[in-house]
Amino acid sequence: MNATPSTAKALSTKVREIRTAFGIDIGGSGIKGAPVDLATGEFAAERVRIATPQPATPSAVAATVAELVTSFHLPSDTPVGVTFPAVVQHGVARSAANVDSSWIGTNIETVIGQAVGRRVVAVNDADAAGFAESAFGAARSTRGVTFICTLGTGIGTAMVVDGVLVPNLELGHLEIDGVDAESRAADSARDRENLDWDQWAVRLQRYFGVIEDLFWPDLIVVGGGVSKHHEKFLPLLHLRAPIVPAQLRNAAGIVGAAALAAAAH
Ligand code: BGC
Repeated sequence: MNATPSTAKALSTKVREIRTAFGIDIGGSGIKGAPVDLATGEFAAERVRIATPQPATPSAVAATVAELVTSFHLPSDTPVGVTFPAVVQHGVARSAANVDSSWIGTNIETVIGQAVGRRVVAVNDADAAGFAESAFGAARSTRGVTFICTLGTGIGTAMVVDGVLVPNLELGHLEIDGVDAESRAADSARDRENLDWDQWAVRLQRYFGVIEDLFWPDLIVVGGGVSKHHEKFLPLLHLRAPIVPAQLRNAAGIVGAAALAAAAH
């Protein structure tokens, strides 16, 4: 999993000097972290997972992240990045579709940074996963426009254009046929409505069809936990662009958070 020339261009000179950064993936059930080797996109040490505190308020989550980071005894100059499943604009959470609403307006970088005692960079979860797939995974040799989508509780979306991330795309909330797309096509909708793969694929076809008509991606990458069953639904989709499963699987958030934190360092 080596970085491509376009990725190297997107990561600044400084990033290429930094060998390791630390990534943390904040999810609804677990908070996971590991140091990442930025030359390969691989974990430099085994990942640690701590259950997400409930309720997942900013102070409770920050304390858990601090516990996780402290357990690694990182050098003080190691960049630290965290993912968050909402719009993250310059460190501030601006939405809360599937997280505790007390996060809206919270400066994630300040709250977590204070608890951890070091600078922290916060990014949207799908942006982290998308950036990781573009730098080290399924889209690493793609030029042009890659659309990355994570199918889980919600639909996370990211777009990377020649190695450059366009942040906070939020295309899981496109209104299609009068409803919020993620309420019909996320993996949680498949679960909730007991859809079989064919029924779910009809909804995905409609979703990705609209995405294609609006954005004309050169490649579509599908991640999220359900992507490990990609052979059950991706072959049922008929799109103009190739559509492929994510490669980094559940490492993508950690790897992307680490790489984006290094880029912002
Ligand atoms: C949120 C996005 C997030 C996605 C995946 C959506 O409901 O609005 O910000 O990336 O879920 O967690």
